[in-house]
Amino acid sequence: MNILFVGDIVGKPGRRILAQVLPDLRRESSVDLVIANGENSAGGFGITRETFEEILACGVDVVTGGNHTWQAREVVGLLDSELQLLRPANYPPGTPGRGSGVFRPSKGRSGPAVAVLNLQGRVFMEPLDSPFRIGWDQVEVLRRETPVIVIDMHAEATSEKAALAWYLDGRVSAVLGTHTHVQTADERILPSGTAFITDAGMTGPRDSIIGMGREEVLQRFLTLLPTRFDVAKGPAQLNAVLLAIDGETGRARAIERISRSAA
Ligand SMILES: [Fe+2]
Ligand SMILES: [Fe+2]
Repeated sequence: MNILFVGDIVGKPGRRILAQVLPDLRRESSVDLVIANGENSAGGFGITRETFEEILACGVDVVTGGNHTWQAREVVGLLDSELQLLRPANYPPGTPGRGSGVFRPSKGRSGPAVAVLNLQGRVFMEPLDSPFRIGWDQVEVLRRETPVIVIDMHAEATSEKAALAWYLDGRVSAVLGTHTHVQTADERILPSGTAFITDAGMTGPRDSIIGMGREEVLQRFLTLLPTRFDVAKGPAQLNAVLLAIDGETGRARAIERISRSAA
């Protein structure tokens, strides 16, 4: 089966290119399920009902999150009501929402159920519970439901993402990094069948500094004074990875980087 994973969608430019490109991508690659990280979909920080529904309307089946999931206050109600919206599983017990789910293929497609697990790193980030321990335990539970398991590992440090992928090699179909917004060129299949990429990249404004306006970000670096960041304008890019997975065993057969741009 073919699963498309779309890197962090940033603001309106990200949502716009998703709407432009995703229908064709789905068709060309006969995609059975689409997962997208939506933590930056509302004005660059957070996710709202409006942006969540817009992303689903583009053809996305499951929306994952990260450290920016919490920015918009309405996300708490959204996480409680929408099974297709995930947040990292290693937040403390009692945090609103769910860190994983088991999903049927998209409407009109067939194939086994797909488990999606969202985790967040701790290096240079919030001191959450261990993504390794929580990840291992969650995978144990999800493997009872389906062999096809895709992890969004939302983390800053390349080492932490690679470590998680090697830790779970052979137990999950893919460990896909998000959060750093720059697509890495290290996609591969590990020896026991887990597909891995350090970062899937960003779906948002191309001529930006990881999605934000260049002027404001530069000012922050030049002056070290607090500045307000806004989503950059101009042409957009879509970054994603396409996975081919054996539905019987859950092993990855291929992982391919995708990058598209639009005016
Ligand atoms: Fe992000
Ligand atoms: Fe993030």
